[in-house]
Amino acid sequence: MTEEIGKAFQDKTKYQREPYSQGHLEWQQRIEKLKIQMVDKSVSLPEPDFTDGKPVFQVISRRRSRREFARKPVPLPFVSQVLWAASGLSFRKGDFYLKTAPSAGALYPVETYLSAQLVDGLESGLYRYQAENHSLRMKYAGNFGPALASSALNQDFLSQAGFVLLFTAVFTKGCWKYGDRAFRYIYLDAGHAAQNAALAAVSCGLICCPVAAFFDDEINSILDLNPAREGILYLMAFGFPA
Ligand SMILES: Cc1cc2nc3c(=O)[nH]c(=O)nc-3n(C[C@H](O)[C@H](O)[C@H](O)COP(=O)(O)O)c2cc1C
Repeated sequence: MTEEIGKAFQDKTKYQREPYSQGHLEWQQRIEKLKIQMVDKSVSLPEPDFTDGKPVFQVISRRRSRREFARKPVPLPFVSQVLWAASGLSFRKGDFYLKTAPSAGALYPVETYLSAQLVDGLESGLYRYQAENHSLRMKYAGNFGPALASSALNQDFLSQAGFVLLFTAVFTKGCWKYGDRAFRYIYLDAGHAAQNAALAAVSCGLICCPVAAFFDDEINSILDLNPAREGILYLMAFGFPA
């Protein structure tokens, strides 16, 4: 089985900066400059709290895409709750584990990155979420909000957010089993994770907005992804309401 159709779809549906005529080379240079320092630092997250929170139907009814963020730091425990709800583990037996959101074949090709921009108790930077021990691994230090906003067609609210989740896919993980059909499953997996994150945000008193309008290659470059196997799917901005 080959993955040509899926890969071609992914490539051909990318937004490119070219038609927007804003001088893409300039922005590219700016992104490179923002990669201030490659770091290798693990940050443990507060244990997720499964005991508290609002009843699920109330939470569902209150979810709305909202984009006006207060300049108020988000406490790290809220970031922890949202990350766990999106992509954390909810079952473990030896090496076998299952996550909070369903995934076709339990392959979990969706990865979750965090851009911490205004988080109380966490240095600003780009992190990869490590579900296996509910921790973060810092990739780069610095505030990536402006670069993300620029790469998302200047949707400036991304830079005003306390934090942004970036869902990527390791396409090869799904294709190993499902070939081209993996691409369908991957987008569905990301939707499940994003909805869990949105509901967790409501429960924490945060607002959020999903964002899928972005220049793929620029976000991939910010995250330093290997485009042969991995790519950005979805962004989500979180913070307190203004
Ligand atoms: C796949 C997807 C992509 C979206 N991309 C964007 C986006 O790039 N920018 C934005 O402001 N909102 C974006 N949204 C939010 C929608 O505009 C929003 O969900 C819609 O207006 C319905 O409002 P509600 O989420 O409050 O129910 C996106 C939503 C989805 C599901």
